[in-house]
Amino acid sequence: MSSEVILDIRELRAYYRILKGDVKALDGVTFQVRRGEILGIAGESGCGKSTLAHTLMLRKPPLTHISGEAIFLGKDIMQMPNSEFRKMRFRDISIIPQYALDALSPTKRIGTFIRDIVNEHDITADEEFMDKVKERFAMVNLDSSVLHRFPIELSGGMKQRAIMIISTLMNPALVLADEITSALDVSSQRFAASMLMELRDKGIIGSAIFITHDLSILYQIADRIMIMYAGHLVEIGPVDEIIHNPRHPYTQALIASLPKVGVQIKHERLEGIKGTPPELLDIGPGCRFRFRCPYRTNKCEKTPEIEDINPLHSIACWHFEELGGESVG
Ligand SMILES: Nc1ncnc2c1ncn2[C@@H]1O[C@H](COP(=O)(O)OP(=O)(O)O)[C@@H](O)[C@H]1O
Ligand SMILES: [Mg+2]
Repeated sequence: MSSEVILDIRELRAYYRILKGDVKALDGVTFQVRRGEILGIAGESGCGKSTLAHTLMLRKPPLTHISGEAIFLGKDIMQMPNSEFRKMRFRDISIIPQYALDALSPTKRIGTFIRDIVNEHDITADEEFMDKVKERFAMVNLDSSVLHRFPIELSGGMKQRAIMIISTLMNPALVLADEITSALDVSSQRFAASMLMELRDKGIIGSAIFITHDLSILYQIADRIMIMYAGHLVEIGPVDEIIHNPRHPYTQALIASLPKVGVQIKHERLEGIKGTPPELLDIGPGCRFRFRCPYRTNKCEKTPEIEDINPLHSIACWHFEELGGESVG
């Protein structure tokens, strides 16, 4: 991982405007993605992971960008007109969707689908280009005959692998993968995750944001892990530090509740996570985990600032120093 930042997200806020008010699903999130890294994002269902991906890639109503920046390769994509952003899609930044079926067009053969996408970017899908496509397909054990087939003729795993290759054909600097593995069986999950790593290791893609609720997959592929809770970032750090020495009470509880991570869990103070995340409709300030946190004090009524423990590890908790580092881990 280089120290060069390719995506710089500053205080990003995106709400769902509904009749009853604002669902504050992404509420002031700041982090960076470095060149060449796989940044894993984890957190319970409903914590805003997909909202983050959609804010960057889709911006469809009722989702409304409220404030904040997302500087990608020097330009704020939140301020970019759709026409300009469309040119960057696939070429510079690409999303691998959760359900491959939604992404592929049911009425187009896979080869036609690919030609249409690259034509939009003024690339001719000539023989040389299609040879490259076939090579990439071979990387994920897909035979070139897949190009002549319709999505319905492929299994779920094959479709997922096809869309993974199609999304990365133009060697994007950043790939966003949102729960791509959750619809797959365990061995297909491992395969998809390791494919993404291989694409990165071979320099086919630059960096990746890998969103999942499954920390064990992140343990396998991520360089850093970011933990979200109820629309806030609570902790971000190198994979080993997050798994073996989590500092935020929520991260500690999350790790403790996941015996499947396959690493020794020594945090016995919090077992499982009692309660549920707060309602995000018109929620006020304060640490959003305080309603479930055993360390809650009056201070927690104020939104905690992100503090750096070391240059790669940051945490948003008023009490993290009292919670200790090594002694907790
Ligand atoms: N279209 C929508 N309208 C209103 N609220 C939404 C909509 N989509 C998601 N939300 C809410 O936004 C919050 C974050 O959801 P989401 O980003 O999908 O979480 P995750 O991907 O982490 O499971 C949740 O409280 C969810 O109910
Ligand atoms: Mg989601």
